[in-house]
Amino acid sequence: MSSGSSAVGESVKMVETTPVMIEDVPAIRLEGVAKQFGQVEALRACDLSVPKGCFLSLLGPSGCGKTTMLRLIAGFESQDRGTIRVHGETVDGLPPNKRNVNTVFQGYALFPHRTVAQNIAFPLEIKKVGKAERRERVGEMLALVHLEGLEERKASQLSGGQAQRVALARALVGRPEVLLLDEPLAALDLKLRKAMQLELRRIQQELGTTFIFVTHDQSEALTMSDQIVLMNGGEIVQQGAPADLYDRPQTVFASQFIGEANLLEGRVAGRQGSDLLVRVGPLEIAGPDSEGFSVGDEAVLSVRPEKILAGHNGSLDGLPNRLTGVVREQIFLGHLIRFIVEVAPGTNLVVEQSAAHGEAWAVGATIELGWAQDAVTVLSGIR
Ligand SMILES: Nc1ncnc2c1ncn2[C@@H]1O[C@H](COP(=O)(O)OP(=O)(O)OP(=O)(O)O)[C@@H](O)[C@H]1O
Ligand SMILES: [Mg+2]
Repeated sequence: MSSGSSAVGESVKMVETTPVMIEDVPAIRLEGVAKQFGQVEALRACDLSVPKGCFLSLLGPSGCGKTTMLRLIAGFESQDRGTIRVHGETVDGLPPNKRNVNTVFQGYALFPHRTVAQNIAFPLEIKKVGKAERRERVGEMLALVHLEGLEERKASQLSGGQAQRVALARALVGRPEVLLLDEPLAALDLKLRKAMQLELRRIQQELGTTFIFVTHDQSEALTMSDQIVLMNGGEIVQQGAPADLYDRPQTVFASQFIGEANLLEGRVAGRQGSDLLVRVGPLEIAGPDSEGFSVGDEAVLSVRPEKILAGHNGSLDGLPNRLTGVVREQIFLGHLIRFIVEVAPGTNLVVEQSAAHGEAWAVGATIELGWAQDAVTVLSGIR
């Protein structure tokens, strides 16, 4: 955007002192982007805005279109319909190397016989960056990914985590404005993966680069992201901050895909104050009212296991939703104990309690359950 000059004089100058909000231009914008492979609609009219400097995760089940979206942004494929913009400028028709966007793939193909430093320097060599600057920038990258001292090691002699760091350094050395990462941690074992999640986040925050990170692991998306874009069947289902998606899922799919949820199917029985009353078999359960529900409509209540409190002898009397149930199963998970509690014939609730602070209710015990009004989300229809 150019600030332009004007012949109108003083009055315009005052307007010009208001800073132009460059940050408002998203790093990446998709408008109505669709892509079909033969009969498969990989993406259907997707609209997406990725704020500058954001760590955004594309999350969804296998085959939902995450890689396709990334490849379209990178320029390895072209969309059938719609427009893609990078920092406000359309990149439609531009080859990958003209987009100021770089990609780290799952199989991070390093050159095995080259050293760490040579691998990282490779993109700069191609761009014919001089030797001195190359050395300086490789040094910066080695420090960034904490691989100082390993620059002369052959890539074939690295551990998985080290190789991942080299791949990341190589992708960042050209200072792309946007980095696309397609399940870059999938090959690592759980412990290393957790460590690399924190590392990636730190690196992203240090550089302020926009990261678009593909994962099908909801816990990974929750820990790492500023924003999550949840996808299903080639569509964007919901976009928001992790806590937003977790606490306010808009669909049954979202409530199940992110975290665990008890789903209770019923029908709207009426309203009480600001609550919606939903009849689930013999139970009547209150949840936050949302517009669009009429009496008799199908509704699904979603309650997170950790938001259900368990007690006995009236200890939960202050809570609006209280049920009595019988403990059917007890599963020890280390830091948590998970209980399956039957609250009506054939209706079970999963309840989780801290192993350190909760009570270890025995199988067969009758207990009381309760939850705060805002622990429930009322959703329409199972699909
Ligand atoms: N080159 C291609 N030719 C034909 N079909 C394709 C091609 N690429 C992707 N598809 C199909 O498009 C759909 C979306 O694929 P995509 O790879 O984007 O999914 P994904 O969300 O990345 O899945 P995963 O989590 O398994 O990596 C799938 O049904 C896939 O089979
Ligand atoms: Mg994929």
